[in-house]
Amino acid sequence: MAVLPITVLGAPILREETVPVEVVTDELRQLAADMLETMHVADGVGLAAPQVGRRERLCVVEVEETLLTLFNPEIVARDGRIKWEEGCLSIPNTFGTVDRSAQVTVRAINEHGAPIEITADGLLGVCLQHEIDHLHGKLFIDHLSFLKRRSVLATWEKEKGRYPNLVRIFGPGGTEPEPTTEHATEQRI
Ligand code: NI
Repeated sequence: MAVLPITVLGAPILREETVPVEVVTDELRQLAADMLETMHVADGVGLAAPQVGRRERLCVVEVEETLLTLFNPEIVARDGRIKWEEGCLSIPNTFGTVDRSAQVTVRAINEHGAPIEITADGLLGVCLQHEIDHLHGKLFIDHLSFLKRRSVLATWEKEKGRYPNLVRIFGPGGTEPEPTTEHATEQRI
């Protein structure tokens, strides 16, 4: 297991399309395990492969009792609307209210290579939408109005100087020497 650096806004990979996974190999299971460990250290509830510099269509999510490793996840049904204040491990200390579907049904392949389907609402539903966005080069700031986006990006301008190499590095000597726990659960996606 390893804690991986997390890419931040400005890293080109966050804006790239991912590549569907054809076979869930041991190497990819290890990547997913490393992503889970990284997500825990970063005190997040979701993490997508581009956030650790990888192009596989893979994300991990942990909300309360639900722990999911999802390869090739796609939203197959939506219902209702909900507003949710979101943040992102790749845009630290920057938040905005996003208009999401209230409930989604997601199909994916799990870490054993088996097809799964999940229907979720609340934080889990929002988190799934946020992570699947990441897998298509999309960030929560893209959902904001022009004015709100401008204000959020102004906040980020002050933050980004902490990450000259466009990565968050955890542990002694890194950009995040102490685990971050200051944010509300719903914002750590
Ligand atoms: Ni995010």
